Amino acid sequence: MAGSRVGRPGQAAVGPARAPRCTGSGCLMVPAEAGKRPGPYHRRLDNAFTRRAGIEVPIIGGPMYPCSNPELVAAVSEAGGIGIVQPISLTYVHGHDFREGLRLIRRLTAKPIGMNALIEKSSRRYHERMVRWVELALEDGVRFFITSMGKPAWVVRRVHAVGGVVYHDVTELKWATKSLDEGVDGLIAVNNRAGGHAGRRSAKRLYAELSHLKVPVICAGGVGNEAEFVRMLSLGYAGVQMGARFIATDECRASQPYKDAIVRATERDIVLSERVSGTPVSLIRTPSVDRQGLRPGPAMRWMLGGKRTKYVARTLLLLRSLRQLKAAVLDESGSRDFWQGGKSVAGVHSVEPAGDIVRRFAAAARL
Ligand SMILES: Cc1cc2nc3c(=O)[nH]c(=O)nc-3n(C[C@H](O)[C@H](O)[C@H](O)COP(=O)(O)O)c2cc1C
Repeated sequence: MAGSRVGRPGQAAVGPARAPRCTGSGCLMVPAEAGKRPGPYHRRLDNAFTRRAGIEVPIIGGPMYPCSNPELVAAVSEAGGIGIVQPISLTYVHGHDFREGLRLIRRLTAKPIGMNALIEKSSRRYHERMVRWVELALEDGVRFFITSMGKPAWVVRRVHAVGGVVYHDVTELKWATKSLDEGVDGLIAVNNRAGGHAGRRSAKRLYAELSHLKVPVICAGGVGNEAEFVRMLSLGYAGVQMGARFIATDECRASQPYKDAIVRATERDIVLSERVSGTPVSLIRTPSVDRQGLRPGPAMRWMLGGKRTKYVARTLLLLRSLRQLKAAVLDESGSRDFWQGGKSVAGVHSVEPAGDIVRRFAAAARL
């Protein structure tokens, strides 16, 4: 795996202190003017997020059930970003024992990796397993954690005790404030273009809502090419978390038909389905999705509406979807076309090595 060093932190402070010359995707046109001097985005590669995570490029290879496999996580980290382990994907989909999977990643890169802790307390057994995974990850030197759903305080306590950091997934100010009260160090701002569970706000609006909180805010959603990456940095985000862009890579174990569907898809092919978990999840529109529809059946809808029954309903939907998504991601025939993907697919035009993506994006930000 290519181990080229991209953007050493030491280089990052040398840019002249002048205002950005652009604020939109037109930023990529600036290099001729910026010439020999590093421009404003160069400095932004070295920020509170990259420094504390110990990485060179503010790009997170987002956790993805069922698409995160060890080779992909390692490739993003090795190129200077940070790949995130999704424990259920690692074990249930890709068949690794959790610790053995971490060690496989370690053989591929010595650079920092992160772990996703989905901490919704759906069952005691699941919670105990997540606690164990977090402990094993800490023992193996993982120091960057992304928590999703639930209350992150217990993860924060354990991770801070060994000097690590915790970022929490949020879709609006209310959840951001709550998670900061629980001690998280940064926020993953999930917007309305994100793959997986989509938020409701645009990237711009969400940043405006969260920027006063004085912690690094990462943009999750809609970034499929380097122009969008630069645009998000220019808005003020400390970095981006990308999902779909990293599925269409050589290292991702997703099937070729899934990768091809991402390369082919436009924004219009992305639909929001409530059948996966009871809340909107971005899917690529395919014959399977059309057949199933985007809403759960009437009995399930009734259960989702009830105060007591909604947790059972969500768990049932999720268990069914986990099986369906696992079967689809590994199916090379393409007949199980049940694939997640957000609107960032519009910026993805080829399957390429994950490291090339990280390096190309970093280079665009340095212009
Ligand atoms: C196939 C897929 C699976 C995902 N699974 C998870 C997950 O298990 N946990 C999580 O926190 N986020 C998950 N996400 C969200 C991503 O980590 C990331 O935030 C999101 O994909 C960013 O949007 P983008 O796809 O437009 O880049 C998933 C996204 C995709 C596309």
